[in-house]
Order: sequence, then C-alpha cells, then structure tokens
Amino acid sequence: MKSVVFSADHQQAIINTEQRLLDALLTRKVEVKMLCRGRGMCATCHVYVTKNPHSLTPMTDREKLTLSVLTGAQPNSRLACQAHVLGDGVEISLPTGLYIESFADIEALIGKRTTAPILHPITGKILIQEKKIITRSAIAELRNVDVDIQQLSLEKSR
Ligand code: FES
Repeated sequence: MKSVVFSADHQQAIINTEQRLLDALLTRKVEVKMLCRGRGMCATCHVYVTKNPHSLTPMTDREKLTLSVLTGAQPNSRLACQAHVLGDGVEISLPTGLYIESFADIEALIGKRTTAPILHPITGKILIQEKKIITRSAIAELRNVDVDIQQLSLEKSR
C-alpha cells in the first residue's frame, strides 16, 4: 500500500502499490472528467507533484507529448492516469479551475458568475477567468471546444 498526500488539505489517499495517481484522486472523490478515458491525451487529470516525484513511474512519450502542449504545465506536472505510484511520500496539488466537457457545459453557465477559471479539457487553457459573468456574446468564439473534443475522440479510436 502507498499513500498519496493532497497538499491543499494534507489529507491522504491510500492506494495499492503500482496503482495510478488517478486512483488516488478517485479515492478522494475528486471529480476527474477523464475526457480521454485515461489514455494520456487530455488535460483533465493534470496534477502537480509537489513531493517525491521519483516515487512515480517515469513519463511515457505519450504523457510528455500531451504535457508539452498543455497550458499551465510546469516541470512537476504529471498526468494522473499515466503515473503509477511505486514509492511512498508522493504529494500532489491540483490545478485551479474547472474543466468542461463540451460547449454545452459553458452554455449552461450563461448568466452566472464563475467561481473558478473554466478550463479547456484538452489544452488546459483558461477559457473564462474566475469571477466573470458568462454572457452569450462572450462565449461565442468558444464553440471550437466541441471540434477539439471530436478530434480527440477520433484519435482515441485509432
Ligand atoms: S484522463 Fe485524459 S490524460 Fe488522463
């Protein structure tokens, strides 16, 4: 068994050795969109490893490629679905923001003020800043989110 600590509240998740960081997130009931279904192709399971990164499996080429285009990626970034926990002492933090799954998710927020940045599910780019009121005109150019997601679906099926 291994523990993964969440730096925000210092709570831990206990998972089996070699399970994924993603399993630690799910154990703590973190809502992870898993847009690519754990294939290392999206941003929705992005985490920062704040302690003991060497207790994780090395990055795969797939993970490196995805992180290379991910807005907000830092040297300690990992994709939770790709990193397996081998040792003790791993600590993680989560990027600030809410990932959407489709343009419809943004449309559902029209007229509301965002409580956190709204993030693109593949690139991690901030689509709408925190504390902004979402208007129909402000989100008009964000319709391409659905196109990006459709392209990801095509890549997944290859
Ligand atoms: S769920 Fe998509 S990269 Fe991890």
